[in-house]
Amino acid sequence: MSKLTRRTLIKAMASTPVAASLSGCFWFPVKFEHGVASGDPTENSVIIWTRVTTDAPYMPVRWEVSRNRKFRRVAASGTVQTDGSRDFTVKVDVERLRPGKKYYFRFIANEVVSPVGETRTVRRRNINEVSLAVVSCSNYPAGYFNVYREIVSQHHQQPFDACLHLGDYIYEYGNGGYATEDAAELGRLPSKGTECITLDDYRKRYAQYRTDPDLKALHANMPMIAVWDDHEIANDTWRDGAENHQPDEGDFADRRAAAVMAWLEWLPVRENGDNASHIYRQVSYGDLASIYMLDTRVTARDEPLDYAAINPADPAQLSALLANAASPTRQLLGYEQKSWLTGALANSNAKWQVFGQQILMAKMQLPAPVLLALFGVLNATPEQLPAALQNMQLAIQDALLNPGSPQNQLKLPYNLDAWDGFMADREWLYATCKALGKDRIISLAGDTHNAWCSQLADVSGAPAGIEFATSSVSSPGIETYLPVPPEQVEQLRSSLVALIDELQWADISQRGFLRLTLTREKAQADRTLIDTVKSQTYSTQMMQLSSSDGQTLDT
Ligand SMILES: [Fe+2]
Repeated sequence: MSKLTRRTLIKAMASTPVAASLSGCFWFPVKFEHGVASGDPTENSVIIWTRVTTDAPYMPVRWEVSRNRKFRRVAASGTVQTDGSRDFTVKVDVERLRPGKKYYFRFIANEVVSPVGETRTVRRRNINEVSLAVVSCSNYPAGYFNVYREIVSQHHQQPFDACLHLGDYIYEYGNGGYATEDAAELGRLPSKGTECITLDDYRKRYAQYRTDPDLKALHANMPMIAVWDDHEIANDTWRDGAENHQPDEGDFADRRAAAVMAWLEWLPVRENGDNASHIYRQVSYGDLASIYMLDTRVTARDEPLDYAAINPADPAQLSALLANAASPTRQLLGYEQKSWLTGALANSNAKWQVFGQQILMAKMQLPAPVLLALFGVLNATPEQLPAALQNMQLAIQDALLNPGSPQNQLKLPYNLDAWDGFMADREWLYATCKALGKDRIISLAGDTHNAWCSQLADVSGAPAGIEFATSSVSSPGIETYLPVPPEQVEQLRSSLVALIDELQWADISQRGFLRLTLTREKAQADRTLIDTVKSQTYSTQMMQLSSSDGQTLDT
């Protein structure tokens, strides 16, 4: 951090409305420990963000935006005051910028200058290409953010327009909770050691994540467009509760409000003035792409269905569960979000309609005997495991050899927490796109910690879009939940692709991200897969898939 002279600062501040309040906080030391960030770019505006670390009761912070890295000419500037009521974060919606330009931004408080961030506005016309880094599920105790580092390094070779974060930006668990086994060894123990429940817990968790150099570098280099998933609140959050919320942890509504507040404070998102917890919004890249960032988690989601609540081997219980998953009264998006989305889709003249959202939209449905055998493996004791694994092998073999047998024709969704547990809303989305003449549909999904690509189809089997689902930044995937011996992982992967109708490709053992490049001609997903998050040295593997019509994959 460089220093301004006090004279320049006073000169800069003198014209601002808060100049008078400066004196009280003038000599408190200030640090910008959590870097800078930007987000939600439009043609003329972008959100810029920072946080000051200080013991002062409040702090005026000057912000500057320039086309020039040395800030020779300042394109926009101002001063805002922050304090403990917003955790000393600073968020400014910088307006009246020029379309399609790269901008630098920085903050100044008590003579201390923040690191410089880079961001860009959206071009106004002739947008022939948009390139987005798509990520989800960054778990600090689980490992290093090599994925973020790789994005920044690729950005310097071939720039991204923005990073789309599909949620699980933080994880709420305390020490000893999910994916913390290696945290001590990696020097990445969760903040405070305990699960996030209060506002202070969530704030401290964001502050910890934002000390990670790779995450800070990502934010300093490109705008982010973020939505939350469940772990910004608690595992498997729905409208009125969460799997990881217990009665002795207080009122869920209070916890949810605290989590939402910290998210809004710490993420560079443009807030909805009418209701800040309605985070669904549109990002437009002219007539090339409309991106709809959705909330499938908090606003309206009904309680997830769960195979664990029934005996799935009992046909009557099973069909009741599936009937519930398909019930037209079950809500994922909710009335308000759906009516907003219908209007936004109807108004879009873009070639590509992109849904940036949390959970898998594809029907991830397996023959019933295979799914039941898979549950057998998941629930097996160490003694039962060899037999359970053999049983799974046999079920897979039979399903591949006899796909038409009555038991294999019954297909069951493996995860009812995804769109598969809210089938009516999925059909509503497909039908709405179809009715509005939108035929190039891309679903982006996170949440599973593994990488998938599917050709989507509606209930009648008609093509409905393409899904590119990204692997996690660092959270462990199926390969860790399912105790399958390493030599059988590839066989399981290829069996899943063969058995799940919509699924065309999968990787079930590596972390990574995808670069989505949209042009007039095609939507291309370039995946970077990363072999380890347990060391800061890693190697990468690339994989490319694309679609020209938004319905089928190019071969
Ligand atoms: Fe996750």
